[in-house]
Amino acid sequence: MSLRLDPWGHFAIEEYSKLFEQFGISPIDALIEKLPQEHYMFKRRIVFGHRDFDKWLSMLKKGEKVAVLTGFMPSGHTHLGHLILIEELRYLQSIGAHVKMAVADAEAYAVRRLPRDKTIEYGLEYIAHAIAWGLDPEKTEFYFQTAQEKEYYRLIQMFSRKITMAEMEAIYGEISPAKIIASLTQASDILHLQLDKYGGYKHVLVPVGADQDPHIRLTRDIADRFEHELGLKRPFSIYHKFIRGLDGKKMSSSKPDYAIFLLDDERTIRKKIMNALTGGRPTAEEQRRLGGDPSNCTVYELYMYLLYRNDKELLELYSDCRNGRILCGQCKRNAYELLIRVIKEHREKFESIYDPKYLKQYVVIPDF
Ligand code: TRP
Ligand code: SF4
Repeated sequence: MSLRLDPWGHFAIEEYSKLFEQFGISPIDALIEKLPQEHYMFKRRIVFGHRDFDKWLSMLKKGEKVAVLTGFMPSGHTHLGHLILIEELRYLQSIGAHVKMAVADAEAYAVRRLPRDKTIEYGLEYIAHAIAWGLDPEKTEFYFQTAQEKEYYRLIQMFSRKITMAEMEAIYGEISPAKIIASLTQASDILHLQLDKYGGYKHVLVPVGADQDPHIRLTRDIADRFEHELGLKRPFSIYHKFIRGLDGKKMSSSKPDYAIFLLDDERTIRKKIMNALTGGRPTAEEQRRLGGDPSNCTVYELYMYLLYRNDKELLELYSDCRNGRILCGQCKRNAYELLIRVIKEHREKFESIYDPKYLKQYVVIPDF
């Protein structure tokens, strides 16, 4: 069966391995050893695939100009799913890449139909979380799509001239005018920083969720067509899995009961974790006898994506669960304790940063 990735859909991708065969995304495995510093998200295959990441890494090693460009849709409050991308960016910055981050407020307005003021509010919240989590604001460029310069918007018009409707439909399926513009805007996000206006050519890596691969394919095609005219080259990409919501589906702000928001209070977090879908058995007796299934457990995912950075601890939990040595109630309480500690520390930093007066130093806030 053929798979079509929908960058605007709400589902989790069940079988990441299909993406290798169907779209030519390469598995990350061979490159893990080549990273300048190891990172648990690569080792655990949370970052699972790439396009030409090997080439990007060797440019980085050679000291050539490299950058990371990604974006996010400001369609709700920041949750743990977003934090995974922020951690990835923090890592890429720490190994020496320049990081630039788009707030896709134009996309959220046109495709998700959010009011302007909300997109700006959510965008600023996200930027503040990114800085609080450890992205260095002096070394990171943040921007809202709608506050970009004319050179960036000019690219969107130029791109529209060399793309046909048939190509768009082959990549996205049925597509609306709003989505066409959002895709070309995203292509401009990814490619604009190669222009002279933005410092000239650099090797641009785009870390994204696998659902965004259609945009990457489109952008690579566009780069090929503008190599001669504008000197654009193909971007590089890495793909991460999504931490699932506590119902086992994609974590999303549109289902607030199953997402953990970074500003949720302790009681709310506790309640959410206690109600999470686990791989546990119906009774304690059965679980002791037969063991649980961590590979299908949203609480185990919290440990794997965020709470246990040490592989030994994670492996121990895995085997304790499989062998029925730990029950879900205890396991959830431990997760809650660890998560609260992380979130409390984070929130203290966040509070001093989340202030438009402070953030104005680092991002142009669009007017509306
Ligand atoms: N479309 C992306 C999302 O829904 C957000 C986005 C906008 C983006 N511009 C980008 C992602 C550039 C990567 C690169 O999350
Ligand atoms: Fe999940 Fe923990 Fe229960 Fe195992 S013991 S199924 S890891 S909650």
